[in-house]
Amino acid sequence: VTTQAEATPTTWRAAVGVYLAISAVFAVGAGLLATWNALQLVWPDVGAGAAPLTFGRVRPMALNAIVYGWLGFGLLGAAFHIVPRLSGAALWRPRLGSAGAVLAAVSLAGGIGAVGAGYSQGGFLFELPVIADVGLAIGLGTAAFVLIRSAATAAESDQPALWFALAGAVWLPLGFVAGAVPGFRGLNAAIQNAFGVTATVTLAVLSLAIGAAYFVAGESRRDHRGTRVAHLGFWSFAFIAAWTAPRLLVFGPAADWLETIGVTFSLVLVIPALALMVDLAGRLRGLAQRRLLIAGGGFFIAFVVLNMVSSFRSPSSITRFTSWEDALLFIPLLGAAGSWLLAFASHLGGRVGWRWQGIALVEGTFLAALAMLAGGLQQGIAWVGGVNSGEPVTAGPGFVGGATAWYVIAAMGTAIAAAAMAGYGAMVLRRSSDDVVLEHTTAAGDAEDAPEPAPPIGIPVLMRGAIGLFALAAVSVFGIPTLDAPNTTATLVADAREFAPGTLAALGADLYVTEGCVYCHTQQVRPIIADVGLGAVSVPGDYARQSPMALGYRRVGPDLTNVGQRTTSTRLLLELLRAPRDSFDGGDGTEWSVMPSYDYLPDNDLLAIAEYLGALD
Ligand code: HEC
Repeated sequence: VTTQAEATPTTWRAAVGVYLAISAVFAVGAGLLATWNALQLVWPDVGAGAAPLTFGRVRPMALNAIVYGWLGFGLLGAAFHIVPRLSGAALWRPRLGSAGAVLAAVSLAGGIGAVGAGYSQGGFLFELPVIADVGLAIGLGTAAFVLIRSAATAAESDQPALWFALAGAVWLPLGFVAGAVPGFRGLNAAIQNAFGVTATVTLAVLSLAIGAAYFVAGESRRDHRGTRVAHLGFWSFAFIAAWTAPRLLVFGPAADWLETIGVTFSLVLVIPALALMVDLAGRLRGLAQRRLLIAGGGFFIAFVVLNMVSSFRSPSSITRFTSWEDALLFIPLLGAAGSWLLAFASHLGGRVGWRWQGIALVEGTFLAALAMLAGGLQQGIAWVGGVNSGEPVTAGPGFVGGATAWYVIAAMGTAIAAAAMAGYGAMVLRRSSDDVVLEHTTAAGDAEDAPEPAPPIGIPVLMRGAIGLFALAAVSVFGIPTLDAPNTTATLVADAREFAPGTLAALGADLYVTEGCVYCHTQQVRPIIADVGLGAVSVPGDYARQSPMALGYRRVGPDLTNVGQRTTSTRLLLELLRAPRDSFDGGDGTEWSVMPSYDYLPDNDLLAIAEYLGALD
């Protein structure tokens, strides 16, 4: 066959090299953006006036660069190494695989640039403009297709590294497409976003990363065979992970049954996660990348446990919308997936010179995550305590409270982790792929420390299972819930907030999303103590006409559902947008707020935002 001739080791290495090099470039950029973004919560005035550097634009730029750029390309590079190596087959059309990488990289870079230029679509992790989405989806889909075809020559596999790498590569484009499909409004768009984020981060990226971790462990043991526990862990993780999505909606306006699914599956996810990590831990003896793999495992366990805790209703009534949400991104992404990617890169690069990057990534992420968790707890307790003592701090002065100290520590941790990402980029770009060890290890571990081997999984079964389980989750926690009639049955609130196209308020609603107000302000009032004083509890129909979706993810600043009732003067709103630290609340300048100045926007845009805010009554 002609493809066989094409698949010389040189081209295989070239494909891996392309993915890793792209990942290296994004790692450097993502680290810089993430650090800048974290510093903005400490010094909101730094860089004020430069539109592309404002908080609400940098945040989506940084996260897209981390998830798809650094981790996505890096872990796909690992998959391009793992699949031919473990299936024993030549890589099918490696040049097509590289072309997919280039298309995806160009689309991602262009899309991130567009977000910086003010063309965000909204939807957390799915902000890129549609044309960039299409390019990225085709590129990622091509990568998955090349990997599937390559593995198809192997009849079956008993190697967890191969299962996770292949399935993860398939889930990444599927999760991305599910989250990026346009056309959903209001609450349905929020349900879609919860599913897209979970399918992309928890299911796809973490699976690719688990595959990389298993591979590194297997390479040094010269035995890639899994155990029964790994086998069970793989299928149950594949089944459960995406179903945890609705935990991102707890106490929000979505249907109770949907939220209960999210809670239940977040609880159950702990079991396969523990099983997999126990299984992996049994393979690390004498391994050079032992510490990084263990650290990644620790972050992984911390993630599933915290994810479970945050899904429960009573803890979530305190931690939701606080910096806990950020910790729950940092821990799985930088902590688990990042550590395991570094372990893989260090394995590939012959181990030399990787020490400080691993230490900095683990410690920086740990520090940042701890500050986010502690700060979130303090903020959440302050909100509830304020209501209980009859002085709600859900809006107005004092909202930010003692958060600044935690923001400082989180920024330090982020900067340290970003240095590690830059170090990763430098190492990957410096090392030529010639260092890659290419001999194929025929599995031959010693029998005594190999417990019950895993039943092998047929490759077609693996693929059908991965796609089938994904489809099942997508239908159940995304498709069917969006058919819920109340979501699209407009209430009086929805009628009052439907702005005719072309009006100032409609422009303001768009700007509210493209300028990233949604990363700091929510528009949902929950039926819990913390939200007393914010107005009537939000119901699904309130959002029936809302497009782009503005339910929000975090409360760095107050909930704005009914801000028009609190602040009725357009003049005051304009002053707030221009100089948040001078003019808000009587203009005495004593209240510290981390809201950025929007002085860089033209007068008409500012007026539009003020008009929109005023209409939120
Ligand atoms: C970095 C986070 C951040 C971003 C981004 C941000 N804000 Fe704020 N915002 C805050 C904080 C913090 C406060 C609270 C200030 C205070 O109470 O002292 C606030 C306060 C407000 C208030 C007054 C709230 C009230 O309850 O009366 C309004 C209105 C507001 N922001 C609108 C916006 C709009 C519109 C955007 C986008 C153009 C935006 N904010 C972007 C953090 C942010």
